[in-house]
Amino acid sequence: MSRKIVITSGKGGVGKTTICANLGLKLAQMGQKVVMLDVDIGLNNLDVVMGIENKVVYDIADVIEGKCRIKQAIVQDARCPSLYILPSNKIFSSTKINSYNIKAIVEALGEIFDYVIIDCPAGIDSGFHRAVYSAGEAIVVCTPHISSIRDADKVLTILNSYKLNSIGFIVNRVRGDLIMNGKMIDVDQICNLLKSNLVGVLPDDDTISTNQSMSPVQTNGGDAFSILANNIHFCQNKIYDYKSRYSGIFGAIKRKIRQKFQ
Ligand SMILES: Nc1ncnc2c1ncn2[C@@H]1O[C@H](COP(=O)(O)OP(=O)(O)O)[C@@H](O)[C@H]1O
Ligand SMILES: [Mg+2]
Repeated sequence: MSRKIVITSGKGGVGKTTICANLGLKLAQMGQKVVMLDVDIGLNNLDVVMGIENKVVYDIADVIEGKCRIKQAIVQDARCPSLYILPSNKIFSSTKINSYNIKAIVEALGEIFDYVIIDCPAGIDSGFHRAVYSAGEAIVVCTPHISSIRDADKVLTILNSYKLNSIGFIVNRVRGDLIMNGKMIDVDQICNLLKSNLVGVLPDDDTISTNQSMSPVQTNGGDAFSILANNIHFCQNKIYDYKSRYSGIFGAIKRKIRQKFQ
């Protein structure tokens, strides 16, 4: 049976699309058949992050309006043949885009793929409902900032009213150096506040924010994404060690250097 996972958040810009793309890639590299669905209609950017903008012929609205079949709309990733993307519409032009139609698409994709990963818009309005309604599992993304944690808490509360098999959260953009210097809220404290299942911790990684394309496979971010993909696939709870590079005498020097230049 396929797993249908929505990646959501209260606050925008916390890394949902980045996580969707990298998680999809990692799962596909593990031999899974993965499709990623951009439900952030009108503000789509999964196609941009995945570098398939120029390959998009049809999008999700065309599928809903019956202009094409799902198989015609999905775009295969150039790096990983078992990874596909169903792009979103650039403008919210169709009145036919609703929770039921999106659920029908997700169900149909679930017949073909092991994983359907849904990139959700930020916030808790109709776009959120459209994305979550079709999912079996939800992952809330937050960053170690109080406003993001508060919004994640609200979203987690709302998610409890959906019939989901599992709900978890990811802390993205964690900086071990700042945490060790007492300048960033630690992941343990976030767990205490959110009281939900922590599925992953991802470091703040320059190669992610500066890269136009995705797949930071050889970086710290890449390791953390591998751990995240393993956690999700094998239902484990391993957490990326965001402090080890900043521990000890060399770690203290790295902390000082990072603080000085950032
Ligand atoms: N772990 C990370 N380290 C550094 N930059 C990141 C990280 N995660 C996301 N970003 C950057 O943050 C910005 C917003 O990410 P995005 O995935 O578009 O967020 P959202 O989909 O939640 O709006 C992007 O510029 C992205 O490159
Ligand atoms: Mg996004």
